[in-house]
Amino acid sequence: MRASQCNYWTNLGKLLQGDHLLNPAVVSFYPTEQCNFNCTYCEDYGARRNPQAIPPLQFEQAQKVLEVVRTAVDKIILTGGEPLLYPHIDPLVKHAKKELHFHHVTMLSNGSLLHEHEEILPYLDRLMISLDSLDIDLWSTIIQMPQTTIKTIFTNIEKYASYQKKFGFRMVLNCVLTPTTLPNARQMIEFCVQNKIFISFSPQAVQNWPHYDLLVTDEYRQFLREVIDLKKKGAPIVGSLSYLQMLVEFHPYSCYPMLVPRIGSNGDMIYPCKPIEQENTCHGGRPVNLLEVKTWDEAVKIAREKYGPPPRVCTSCFQQCYAEASLQQGAPFKYLLEQICFAPSRQVDIISYAPG
Ligand SMILES: C[S@@+](CC[C@H](N)C(=O)[O-])C[C@H]1O[C@@H](n2cnc3c(N)ncnc32)[C@H](O)[C@@H]1O
Ligand code: SF4
Ligand code: SF4
Repeated sequence: MRASQCNYWTNLGKLLQGDHLLNPAVVSFYPTEQCNFNCTYCEDYGARRNPQAIPPLQFEQAQKVLEVVRTAVDKIILTGGEPLLYPHIDPLVKHAKKELHFHHVTMLSNGSLLHEHEEILPYLDRLMISLDSLDIDLWSTIIQMPQTTIKTIFTNIEKYASYQKKFGFRMVLNCVLTPTTLPNARQMIEFCVQNKIFISFSPQAVQNWPHYDLLVTDEYRQFLREVIDLKKKGAPIVGSLSYLQMLVEFHPYSCYPMLVPRIGSNGDMIYPCKPIEQENTCHGGRPVNLLEVKTWDEAVKIAREKYGPPPRVCTSCFQQCYAEASLQQGAPFKYLLEQICFAPSRQVDIISYAPG
């Protein structure tokens, strides 16, 4: 049994015993905080913040971080900042797949530099590209880049979508729903169907909560209901039905943040989740750097000793990347049924769905 599957079953046992410090379903690593875009809604990164970015690790150090992660799980997400700006990204991806035998390697990228990194494609299992709109003017305004960059992104998406079969990876577009992108979001689904790409939708977050203007419009809920219907009919939409339904109702759920832990660009473990770390209280922070330990369990032990277990009940935020994994873990029968009923769910490995 694979490490991530094993963790899933172990976690069910832990939950039965009341232990909420779960084993990871997937780990998200930020090889760099640097970014070449300046997306208007991005709250953590962007070119305007590059001067304050924590410097990235040397290649050997980044390898070591992945080695420690691999002692816990076989799924990794490389995000950022823009991960393709990490100077050693090509050998790092190759190392993750070939030497560390990660079963599932995801990269989350803005897509603008892909043509300079074609060599990583055979080592990726999933390439998530952020694209919220097909309208060149609108996308240019959101990411604050010239139209020539937008054209490069579209060219890259169409070109590398056609390489999926050849190199054996899945392309997924992540579309942030904002008050300005929502009216044309349906077109994104059509574009994905045409190009054999999957799509995921995330409501724009403002300080870890969905944008107020989305919550109060019927248009937003109506669109999500359509998304659910289309998914049931086989449209290539990522995200479990429970998750999509929650995007409509925003009902509270049991959050297990250590299912999708984050590792910062210097190797720090962010415990138990980014929102609690950012609160700067005695409940969480960056208790340990993975360069200082040999195994994930060692790091978790240090974190638990310093900050205690994660909260048993927490509705402090709505971070969709934690929500999906938590829902999957908390409702195993629903999850299984969905895997059986909906082909798109099977193909995109919904337990490790975690943009951001
Ligand atoms: C922070 S970016 C990092 C990876 C890469 N730079 C990219 O844009 O794909 C990760 C994802 O978070 C999304 N994102 C950024 N700010 C967001 C916000 N305020 N609400 C929802 N999603 C957001 C982006 O669209 C992107 O898909
Ligand atoms: S969303 Fe991604 S591309 Fe945009 S500023 Fe943030 S990190 Fe950069
Ligand atoms: S709800 Fe938010 S703040 Fe609370 S544990 Fe989950 S991710 Fe952290």
